[in-house]
Amino acid sequence: MDRLEKTALVLSGLLMALFFGALIYSARGLGIVVPTCVTDMAPFTKGQVIDKGNGRWEVQMVARMWAFDPPEVRLPPGAEVDLYLSALDVTHGVYIEHTNVNLMAVPGAVNAARVRFDREGEYNVICHEYCGVAHQNMMGKIVVSTAGAAPAAAAPAAPAVPATGAALGKRLFADTGCAACHTIDGSPGVGPTLKGISGHEVELADGSKRTVDEAYLIEAVVNPNKTVVKGFQALMPQAPLSDDQVKALVEYMKTL
Ligand code: CUA
Repeated sequence: MDRLEKTALVLSGLLMALFFGALIYSARGLGIVVPTCVTDMAPFTKGQVIDKGNGRWEVQMVARMWAFDPPEVRLPPGAEVDLYLSALDVTHGVYIEHTNVNLMAVPGAVNAARVRFDREGEYNVICHEYCGVAHQNMMGKIVVSTAGAAPAAAAPAAPAVPATGAALGKRLFADTGCAACHTIDGSPGVGPTLKGISGHEVELADGSKRTVDEAYLIEAVVNPNKTVVKGFQALMPQAPLSDDQVKALVEYMKTL
């Protein structure tokens, strides 16, 4: 074996040692853990935030077109969070700003990551996997604040005084992801704007004309693809809402 061969062998040996050293250092020294697919947890369809005590939290988040459930998670500073992620419809990507959380949300599977929120502030939750026309509007939020330490704030879906009517509808409008496609200020979107929609006459894709009354609005929410407005496409997913929630949403739409 000549010198050159020996040098090449030694060099490649050193490179291997460097490579494995870096792996061990990132795992042990930097605490970097590769996100794992959880096999001992059934895929869930509702988001929830669970206070485990001692600063530990469990957040189960569901991604769907085009919103996250829960749409907003409130946590106290220093919260150590086990994040579990699932999807309802198609594959979504989930990136949480200012953290190293970057996961896929896959229908029928659960992905997990552990993350600690020390700094107070708002962290946007962003979908980074193209998931349909309103993908770019798919966003959630994690709010870390001392106010969020109160147990009552842990479940944003159940405020102390339950909202009703248009107020409930307004919250559902935000939580259900309607705003991803429908503006309320008249500006154009993926779907028709809802500004001043009540009482208007609309022309549907099939050429028929309808007056926007309560019955029409309910139908538009419950059966969106039967009431496609001319010039728009049949893209709206069915919202996971109860009859009462649909009514509240319609009450809200009438106020716009
Ligand atoms: Cu969900 Cu892009």
